[in-house]
Amino acid sequence: MEKLQQLYEGKAKKVFATSDPELVIVDYKDDATAGDGAKKGTIRGKGVVNNKLSNALMQKLEKQGVPTHFVQELSDRETLVKKVEIVPLEVIIRNVAAGSFTKRLGVPEGTVLKCTTLEFSYKNDELHDPLINHYHALAMGLATQEEIDTISRYAFQVNELLKSILLEVGIRLIDFKLEFGRLPDGTIVLADEISPDTCRFWDAKTGAHLDKDLFRRDLGGEEDAYQEVMKRLLG
Ligand code: TMP
Ligand code: ASP
Repeated sequence: MEKLQQLYEGKAKKVFATSDPELVIVDYKDDATAGDGAKKGTIRGKGVVNNKLSNALMQKLEKQGVPTHFVQELSDRETLVKKVEIVPLEVIIRNVAAGSFTKRLGVPEGTVLKCTTLEFSYKNDELHDPLINHYHALAMGLATQEEIDTISRYAFQVNELLKSILLEVGIRLIDFKLEFGRLPDGTIVLADEISPDTCRFWDAKTGAHLDKDLFRRDLGGEEDAYQEVMKRLLG
């Protein structure tokens, strides 16, 4: 399958058309941004790690009954995926307090939450992806009730599966962000990526960050951390 014209360039990936109208090719970049593009940089090798990790995890999820956009890995940075219409919601699951949850609610980072939470942000860069509730999503026509139910069910299922896959390699899954898409027939599938860009991974023994927080917070060592996660999960 060959890359045709570029359809879209995001902060971390490019998307290309193919000769099949139902398939596109995603090309992962090393570019990293934080704080809505306020901080820009590069994490060397990130595109390769995110491509391979996301593909491996999506294939595991698919086997366990979570439909995904994944079709075929084409190269270190390129993957053939089903073309979807992205539901403009960032779906965030949290097991442990961190990041914006800590900032907004004052719950210290690292506090194990009494129950797993799910929240939605409206995917809109100009508005800085504001937190919304499910009535807002319905009122704005971002998704139907049925879609929200399906997305929520898949998100919790992904959490259970990912937590156990990661714990086997000594990684705690703190929180993560998912995006879903609609196929032409309306079927909801998991899309975008699952990677250290979109998840918080803490080393189970030391608590060390193994994710993009190293870059967001100027802690350093992000290149090694991405490689470490890939090594643990893919050998
Ligand atoms: P938050 O604590 O900053 O709201 O982030 C929650 C999770 O979502 C965390 O695992 C990082 C991920 N995330 C993204 O994937 N993209 C984003 O733009 C942001 C802000 C967070
Ligand atoms: N996606 C956010 C941005 O572009 C970065 C983040 O993951 O925090 O700034």
